[in-house]
Amino acid sequence: MKINSSSFATVSELCRGLPGDFRWGAATSAAQIEGAFDLNGKGLSIWDTFCAEPGRINDASNIRVACDHYHRYREDVGLMQGLGLDAYRFSIAWARVQPAGSGPWNEEGCSFYDRLLDALLGAGIEPHLTLYHWDLPQTLQEAFGGWESRAIVPLFVAYAQEVARRFGDRVASISTLNEPWCVATLGYQTAQFAPGKTNRALAMQVSHHLLMAHGAAVQAMRKLTRAPLGIVLNHTPAFAAEVLESDRRAARIDDGLNVRWYMDPVFRGHYPADILDYLGPDAPTVEANDLTLIHQPLDFLGINFYTRSFISTQTPPMPAPGKRGFTDMGWEIYPEALTQHLVRLAREYSPPPIFITENGMANADQVVDGRVADVERIQYVREHLVALARAVELGVDVRGYFYWSLLDNFEWNSGYTKRFGLFHVDYATQQRLAKDSALWYRDFIAAFKSSRGLS
Ligand code: FCB
Repeated sequence: MKINSSSFATVSELCRGLPGDFRWGAATSAAQIEGAFDLNGKGLSIWDTFCAEPGRINDASNIRVACDHYHRYREDVGLMQGLGLDAYRFSIAWARVQPAGSGPWNEEGCSFYDRLLDALLGAGIEPHLTLYHWDLPQTLQEAFGGWESRAIVPLFVAYAQEVARRFGDRVASISTLNEPWCVATLGYQTAQFAPGKTNRALAMQVSHHLLMAHGAAVQAMRKLTRAPLGIVLNHTPAFAAEVLESDRRAARIDDGLNVRWYMDPVFRGHYPADILDYLGPDAPTVEANDLTLIHQPLDFLGINFYTRSFISTQTPPMPAPGKRGFTDMGWEIYPEALTQHLVRLAREYSPPPIFITENGMANADQVVDGRVADVERIQYVREHLVALARAVELGVDVRGYFYWSLLDNFEWNSGYTKRFGLFHVDYATQQRLAKDSALWYRDFIAAFKSSRGLS
């Protein structure tokens, strides 16, 4: 089926400012799609344990099978190729390649990623590898509390080094961490994610260990690979309701905890002073040289952008206006924030080239007569691309865009109830079906390339 091309008639206009070699991609992560949770020597991760605890996952599901990508990766690479993707962002399941998180490596697990990389390269798709997308080997959690202890840092470095040695020459980039804010805050403060704790001081200590592991891994991998190295941060820009005097202050704290807590140490070598004050006794213990370690030169910055947060200190809080509506996650659709935020990052941090490593929406998709007419998703992507292109026009160096996600998949504590994919997955049969948005994205990429004389 061909999607009405008028929906991207302005593609060349829309993306005029984007570089000709701008990368169009899609993203996934291991725990959310692979399945084969204990096959061929794979160790368990903290998400296997978390799923087994009653009440943690909304639909009481687990990641044992997920999208069965472990067995269907060839078909999935074929889907990417059909869309004309330049790039694919995926993560390695640490416990698949090194089941206990330290000690012996699992050759069968490694061979899965060897085959995946070969399939991607054979299809002309650049692999962008993430080392840690939340699935910590359970053994490390049990041995010393995983990210709660500094003992994690040398183990993460050893893991990163071995990945760089084995796969570094075949990947287009390596990101150390995906969204350390989520790991620390949702895993240790709000208990929405594994390991499900509620202790703010611990969450902040975890964030510090994550950042140390990032810096130490970058430093170590430099000696082993020429692949560009970076980190992926989730940014949800805070907008104050501006009704009460306190709204602005609260928005500044929200921004400090989500954006500056990670950007400042990584790009400036210190934590934000106002947030250290705000945290008081919950601020992490930082030892001499920790911040020097964290502050490593990077080749790129990955930004995951979905929504903004609207901060109101009234009781009850003033709701976000939501003029463009909300996604199936309840997240406000507010693409302008992407432009503003990118411009701000460029101005305040002079970061290396940026990739939008995730952007997308959950939608209440329905298959009707073999088709998913997800006009909302097409609209969402279109508006975010407009916002991205505007930022580039304003001088921000953005090199690529990865839609989240290639496939419907396991959406963490929401289980399989939220669908983000370009491809619909029928979990009973594992059948993939291109949604209208997938066809739109395919035609958009083709139009972009032909407008640049690239196809
Ligand atoms: C991000 C995660 C990704 C997915 C999307 C919806 O926070 O990186 O795994 O769950 O949100």
